[in-house]
Amino acid sequence: MLSLTFLSILANIAGSTFAASTFSPARPPALPLAVKSPYLNTWLYAGSDDSGNGGYLAGKWPQHWGSGVTGWTGMIRVDGDTYVWMGDPQVGATTVNQTSYTYTSTKSIFEMDVAGKVQMNITFTSPVYPNDMKRQSLTFSYLNVDVESTDGSSHDVQLYTDISAEWVSGENTVNAQWDYATSGGLSYHKVWRQTQLLFSENMVNNQGLMADWGYWYYATNTSDSLSYLQDSDATRNAFKNDGKLGNKQNKTFRPINDDWPVFGYAVDLGSVKGTAPSQLFTLGYTQEKAVQYNTTDGYLELDSLWTSYFDDEVSALSFFHNDYATATSMSNDLDSKISSDSKAAAGQNYLTVTSLSLRQAFAAITPAIRSSGKTYFFLKEISSNGNTNTVDVIFPMHPILLYLNPQILKMLLDPLYENQESHAYPNSYAEHDLGAHFPNATGHPAGDDEMMPVEECGNMLIMTLAYSQSTGDNSYLSDHYAKMKQWVEYLVEDSLIPADQLSTDDFAGHIANQTNLALKGIIGIGAMAEIANITDNSADSSNYSSISKDYISKWQDLGIAKSASPPHTTLQYGNDSTHGLLYNIYGDKLLKLNLVPQSVYDMQSKFYPTVENKYGVPLDTRSTQTKGDWEMFTAATCDSSTRDMFIKDLATWINETPTGRPLTDLYDTNTGGWPTTQFTARPVMGGTYALLALNSK
Ligand SMILES: *[C@@H]1O[C@H](CO)[C@@H](O)[C@H](O)[C@H]1NC(C)=O
Ligand SMILES: *[C@@H]1O[C@H](CO)[C@@H](O)[C@H](O)[C@H]1NC(C)=O
Ligand SMILES: *[C@@H]1O[C@H](CO)[C@@H](O)[C@H](O)[C@H]1NC(C)=O
Ligand SMILES: *[C@@H]1O[C@H](CO)[C@@H](O)[C@H](O)[C@H]1NC(C)=O
Ligand SMILES: *[C@@H]1O[C@H](CO)[C@@H](O)[C@H](O)[C@H]1NC(C)=O
Ligand SMILES: *[C@@H]1O[C@H](CO)[C@@H](O)[C@H](O)[C@H]1NC(C)=O
Ligand SMILES: *[C@@H]1O[C@H](CO)[C@@H](O)[C@H](O)[C@H]1NC(C)=O
Ligand SMILES: *[C@@H]1O[C@H](CO)[C@@H](O)[C@H](O)[C@H]1NC(C)=O
Ligand SMILES: *[C@@H]1O[C@H](CO)[C@@H](O)[C@H](O)[C@H]1NC(C)=O
Ligand SMILES: *[C@@H]1O[C@H](CO)[C@@H](O)[C@H](O)[C@H]1NC(C)=O
Repeated sequence: MLSLTFLSILANIAGSTFAASTFSPARPPALPLAVKSPYLNTWLYAGSDDSGNGGYLAGKWPQHWGSGVTGWTGMIRVDGDTYVWMGDPQVGATTVNQTSYTYTSTKSIFEMDVAGKVQMNITFTSPVYPNDMKRQSLTFSYLNVDVESTDGSSHDVQLYTDISAEWVSGENTVNAQWDYATSGGLSYHKVWRQTQLLFSENMVNNQGLMADWGYWYYATNTSDSLSYLQDSDATRNAFKNDGKLGNKQNKTFRPINDDWPVFGYAVDLGSVKGTAPSQLFTLGYTQEKAVQYNTTDGYLELDSLWTSYFDDEVSALSFFHNDYATATSMSNDLDSKISSDSKAAAGQNYLTVTSLSLRQAFAAITPAIRSSGKTYFFLKEISSNGNTNTVDVIFPMHPILLYLNPQILKMLLDPLYENQESHAYPNSYAEHDLGAHFPNATGHPAGDDEMMPVEECGNMLIMTLAYSQSTGDNSYLSDHYAKMKQWVEYLVEDSLIPADQLSTDDFAGHIANQTNLALKGIIGIGAMAEIANITDNSADSSNYSSISKDYISKWQDLGIAKSASPPHTTLQYGNDSTHGLLYNIYGDKLLKLNLVPQSVYDMQSKFYPTVENKYGVPLDTRSTQTKGDWEMFTAATCDSSTRDMFIKDLATWINETPTGRPLTDLYDTNTGGWPTTQFTARPVMGGTYALLALNSK
């Protein structure tokens, strides 16, 4: 690691006005700030391709995954001088000096030096509670600020933070409304889109970004040293000038971009010698209704899960805010578990990857509840198109769920089964998704979803068996046996010689005879043989077992370039000059089917290093792009040296990529750049837990 002194010299050489910060374990393309749901999903874009400043919290506005600014400001006054520590408020104040940034699985921690007088530790925690549905149901995030005097003297310190109305809609021309109140020791700003549009998102290029319904809160403890103001830029200037705010609400409700409404807090820390008390802020939103769902029982508007635990929004907010000690201890436990398991599995590089992926993956899934009490999860296919519960997005994500709580996988699959078992879907193969746009899970009664038949039939069979193996819940297999048998018949027809079709990598286009796709289908048949065995359907079991064995032997003739040096599987049958990541072999290893001979694993392990580029191995011969999720699936199937090569390349890419977007899964293996406008902040990065899922079963 470079020493701080050396980095400071570098910063001076580069002509920077700020001293250099360290970044540990890496400087990610975007630093997660409040990342808890598709809408509470705000980052500090760091990479230069997206106008990042290298990862400095002060001087740049935080942004939603869709790139819209979510105004969030921090300032501090020390002995009458004002400094900015977050955002870019135009008040003519200098910025603090960031000295370090560290991320864990649940936290982003900044250390700041303010004029050599005080030190600030700024901790953003977006807790993930895989096994505590009450806590997981809340879409809030913490900002905690610690201040201490560092030069032995006392300093007069006031702290400031605000949010703008930009959080309440992606369209800045719509009206915002707001209020301020206190309740049981809590003070809060409440801000919302004046005209609520239930289940609607503002759409940009057909990508749904932020929610048009729900209520945003910015809360902190009530105290004598707290003051607040709801105004415009005047809020920030008032703090700069006076170090306190006027405790007033300006209720001229107006568009978000009309004299930008700003909702601020100031806390007078008084004379600080040593350490001042921590200041905690909670930011987030509530929606009573989460998702529209269409099932056999008809059309339902599902409630957000938090409504089953709390009487009202402010009770939910108060619970979350006052839960910080527990949240911190549970977050520390989860951070430690992921840290020790990742390091034991493949070292620090692996932890660099897994710890950056946790918040992102979980932020894409939303729990909702029926009046019967049944709970589901709904996934938003963030950024690539917004589909609900896309099967080939759940599939790359599912290792993180097997590792942390396989019941969540079931709760994502349940609505897909309910929809297809209710005859609401006409095709014989498995449905691609539950609806064209989250939060609408209204299905595809006309069967006109994106067609990926072999892909999705294979995915459903593999994930259903993986869930059952992880939990011992065999009745789930019996319950859905008939539907799975329908799908496996499709695979028997179409997996060995797959017709011209899309695989999950649809950006690369249609082709026939895809070697990796065929393997998914054949493993799906092998999974069904095991499912039939477990459910006492012995005739089916021996039938599917012999079909899968026959197919896997033919597949080796069709899909391997035997005379290539070294030999490898192809992208497309018969074309020995092609190759690709054989990531679908992962299903064989995960489910312990032993269908694919070890010789194929060994062959691929030897081959990948021969086609490695600077930042990884290309997805296939059609381009130099790759997918980080599929690289980690592949790594989990290789010998330790090739596995570590994949992991090192992805960790290096995270630290060096010029992209500034929330962790993109698609990137270029030579330049490290990002070849598209999509594939950012997607839950598929849960696939980086592929190795941990193997170990956890
Ligand atoms: C930041 O560091 C630079 C270089 O050491 C120094 O000149 C400047 O005064 C510092 N600013 C603050 C706010 O501490
Ligand atoms: C910030 O964190 C560092 C490292 O954990 C610690 O040494 C320091 O005392 C903390 N400072 C404050 C202001 O809490
Ligand atoms: C906020 O106030 C509650 C009591 O209402 C107290 O339990 C809690 O410790 C306070 N939190 C902070 C961060 O001061
Ligand atoms: C969901 O469906 C409703 C109609 O029921 C529509 O108004 C809304 O725009 C849809 N939401 C999205 C994000 O497409
Ligand atoms: C309230 O805000 C509006 C819009 O910024 C501004 O025109 C008006 O002067 C403010 N009222 C007061 C009393 O400050
Ligand atoms: C619900 O599904 C039925 C068909 O199963 C369809 O006729 C109806 O339009 C759907 N309702 C909504 C709101 O999508
Ligand atoms: C085996 O499965 C195939 C495909 O579903 C079916 O056509 C065939 O009849 C089955 N054979 C037996 C013996 O069950
Ligand atoms: C797919 O592969 C099979 C077996 O090699 C071959 O017969 C068929 O022509 C191929 N189809 C296409 C479209 O290339
Ligand atoms: C399941 O597989 C085991 C091991 O191969 C075998 O002994 C058993 O008979 C099978 N059961 C059924 C119902 O096929
Ligand atoms: C084989 O693959 C290469 C590389 O993708 C391609 O250029 C070529 O056209 C393919 N050949 C055939 C016969 O499809």
